[in-house]
Amino acid sequence: MLRALFVLAAAAPLAAQSPQPPAGIPRDWPLLGQSQVSEGAKGMVVSGHPLASEAGRDVLRRGGNAVDAAVAVHFALQVVHPEAGNIGGGGFMVHREPGGGVHALDFRETAPAAGHRDMYLDSEGNPTDRSLTGHLAAGVPGSVAGLWTAHQKFGRLPWRELVEVSVRLARDGFVIDQRRHSSISGGARRLSRFAASARQYLPGGAPPPVGSTFRQPDLARTLEAIRDRGPDGFYRGWVADSIVAEMARGAGLITHQDLSGYKAVWREPVRLTYRGHTLYSMPPSSSGGITLGIILNILEGYGSLPGFGSAELLHLEAEAMRRAFIERNTRLGDPDFVKVPTDLLTSKEFAATLRGEIDPAKATPTPAFDPRVPGGESTTHYSIVDAEGGAVAITTTLNGSYGSAVTVSGAGFLLNNEMDDFATAPGRPNMYGLVQGEVNAVAPGKRMLSAMTPTIVLDPNGRLLMVVGTPGGPTIITQVYHVISNVIDHRMDLADAVAAPRMHHQALPDTIRLERARSGATGAAPDAVAGLQRLGHGVGWRGYMGDVQAIIRTPGGWQGVSDPRGGGGGAGW
Ligand code: DON
Repeated sequence: MLRALFVLAAAAPLAAQSPQPPAGIPRDWPLLGQSQVSEGAKGMVVSGHPLASEAGRDVLRRGGNAVDAAVAVHFALQVVHPEAGNIGGGGFMVHREPGGGVHALDFRETAPAAGHRDMYLDSEGNPTDRSLTGHLAAGVPGSVAGLWTAHQKFGRLPWRELVEVSVRLARDGFVIDQRRHSSISGGARRLSRFAASARQYLPGGAPPPVGSTFRQPDLARTLEAIRDRGPDGFYRGWVADSIVAEMARGAGLITHQDLSGYKAVWREPVRLTYRGHTLYSMPPSSSGGITLGIILNILEGYGSLPGFGSAELLHLEAEAMRRAFIERNTRLGDPDFVKVPTDLLTSKEFAATLRGEIDPAKATPTPAFDPRVPGGESTTHYSIVDAEGGAVAITTTLNGSYGSAVTVSGAGFLLNNEMDDFATAPGRPNMYGLVQGEVNAVAPGKRMLSAMTPTIVLDPNGRLLMVVGTPGGPTIITQVYHVISNVIDHRMDLADAVAAPRMHHQALPDTIRLERARSGATGAAPDAVAGLQRLGHGVGWRGYMGDVQAIIRTPGGWQGVSDPRGGGGGAGW
């Protein structure tokens, strides 16, 4: 009732009040009622930092469309949410025009031309941490080309105007909140290994205190170059020179040719259906859309699902996720290098075969992995809906928190460590424990396989219903599944759907991962856990997963929901 009132007026973010917690969520789950909810009659932006959302909302107010707002949000996030960058990284966009056309843009990083399959192995053939920290971990950044390419095709307001807000935020500074302070503190040990990173993020030798104004003059100059010269301001000229000079400091591989040759690529979006709804999500080089599709298609075949939080549901979900990740880890890679059977993998028939192999009474152990079969982390997501009903879902990342930890000296931005998303040692686990195959081995110019899952959902009448995405490595896919299923199957409102506890299975390690809060409260009831163990599942606990930023249609317009697990917020109008 209360929420219905909020719909009537554009309002400041509110913590959602849930009078009746949805069935199946443990009563002491601390996130219930904590989602940050914003309302807007005409449009909505929700992102990992309220200042970035406001930058996007202002663009919508000035008559910009969702793509214009995305440009402003993206560059603002580079300034105010440094853990995820991300002009030194890359990402993916799913865009729906007001008229219904849907487009997917791949601005994933690429391996430098000098990259090769065994570049991260030591002389004994064992994986090293060089794909994680330092200059060699960085792929060729894609973000600036991505936003420019999207804006060239769909933008309405001048590029300059859209980038300007980030220049101001970097030059004049912004106030550090608790979330950003804790985040930089968490990254301090790695950042302090590189002089330019220490100078930028640990001024005076320590993370900027809560309440202090954080200024980034080097970054402001880089953003000015991008504002004035578009991608040439980044991939050529003094910023490119700085990246190449930085590579020389740490035996990195990115060259001027790698930078000037980088291209964002339009791809055919993955189209899925689920219980009468239509979904558009990201195709390879992200595994997100296909893997999400396999999970949804398997579960759709069960008719209505068992109740939220029950061992029966968690078992079916884990078995669906296990099978989807086996396909992902063995068959998916950069479509410019390997053939990806998207139609087969997202077909209902294929899902029916996988479903037929699920035993309702027993876990199926994940078979040993054959990589030859063909077949403290940070990213950020934002969702936008404009006044005409255009929508953008963008997930973007440096990969790990603060990426490679290398800041480009004099240019004020971090480089990614996305190279670790390749199977750097096929058949052995990467940073996320993912065990992947030859299809995702390093090769010059190749894109490393991602799990990012920016997704747009239409209701059964074909109207825009939801825009959703999150960070979280491989858990991105299962989190996006949970939010969509919580709304469609479990009839939760979006605030509860986002706050509800999540589970994850990625085939290997062969364990269901469940959330546990710092207070000790668990995301699954003891009897559900005991039920899973009886079915033969390994069960492990971990902290919160992800930072969902989602929008849903309401009778009065749009509701933005920012995950209580993170420090984001929405801005509607
Ligand atoms: O592209 C991917 O799948 C990963 N690089 C995403 C990393 C990530 O989400 C870490 N953030 N929490």
